[in-house]
Amino acid sequence: MMKKTIFSGMQATGNFHIGNWLGAARNWAHLSADYNCLYCVVDLHALTVRQDPKALSQSAYSVLAWYIALGLNPEDNILYFQSHVPAHAELAWILNCFTYVGELSRMTQFKDKSAKNEDNINAGLYTYPVLMAADILLFQTHLVPVGDDQRQHLELTRDVAQRFNAIYGDVFVVPEPYIPKVGARIMGLLNPEGKMSKSGDNPNDCIFLSDEPDAILKKFKRAVTDSDNAVFASPEKPGITNLLSIYSCVTGKTLDESVAAFAASGYGDFKTRVGEAVVEALAPYRAEYDRLMADRAYLDSVLQSGAAKAQALAAPTLVRVKEAIGLPV
Ligand code: TYM
Repeated sequence: MMKKTIFSGMQATGNFHIGNWLGAARNWAHLSADYNCLYCVVDLHALTVRQDPKALSQSAYSVLAWYIALGLNPEDNILYFQSHVPAHAELAWILNCFTYVGELSRMTQFKDKSAKNEDNINAGLYTYPVLMAADILLFQTHLVPVGDDQRQHLELTRDVAQRFNAIYGDVFVVPEPYIPKVGARIMGLLNPEGKMSKSGDNPNDCIFLSDEPDAILKKFKRAVTDSDNAVFASPEKPGITNLLSIYSCVTGKTLDESVAAFAASGYGDFKTRVGEAVVEALAPYRAEYDRLMADRAYLDSVLQSGAAKAQALAAPTLVRVKEAIGLPV
């Protein structure tokens, strides 16, 4: 039987943080046994916010190195930079013509990002979800493993695919989201009402995978809690609930087991132990990441073969799309 296809991506901006890891990449490494897996570093998407050219390139390699360090073996997974495969941008243009302005105006990420970048609300920020739909549909993707914040973009991807299929026949597989039960929305440590994000104002809100162990422990000690000193999960306790989710993701314990582990703990002890568990879980990956970042030739060889494989897989879909709509091929 033909294996189904998995596609996911991460922006080439800033640093990889534990939200990216626990909500998304953590769930990717074991999938290659059962699926054809493609993981892209989406550098074109990153351009929707003004980037420093050197930092952008460095971030793109850094995301690739984390992919590999976190267990995505390039022999079993196709890893590449989005800008190395022009079919992404080509399909995005076509899908732009099948996506309504009204749909894009409803995207919460667009609203959030335009509020944060008032002086640069560019057209790319607006059509960002169409490029994402193209990323996914280009490979006849069945499953898209992402964090909860991408749910709305995936709904749009499905709508665009179904709209196109309704006119031209079954050209695209209609993808399903694959969102973890725990860890799908890691919240900020200082503001547990908002998701942990690279673009936040305060670096203490966010744990980066490349943070030194001491810095990680300090950030956890500063995490915002509440005043009743009892460790359990509840919507009224967003800070504690977030720390419990992080602990349960990195230790593999269920949420109930995690609550039980802290039955006799006050918040001080709880926060220290969550920090220690994260440091311990990250230790093997950090060394591998450092090794990979020092080997640019190897990363370039991964990129070259990844882009060639992705381009070959994308080509038949692009031909089908062009034939369907009447572009000469
Ligand atoms: P990006 O780069 O913002 O995030 C990459 C992945 O990390 C997840 N994530 C989180 N999960 C849990 N808690 C958080 N605080 C958290 N922050 C981020 C995201 O859900 C995502 O899975 N638009 C995408 C990139 C993209 C993409 C695609 C993804 C472009 N094309 C095609 C899948 C398929 C984005 O901005 O992710």
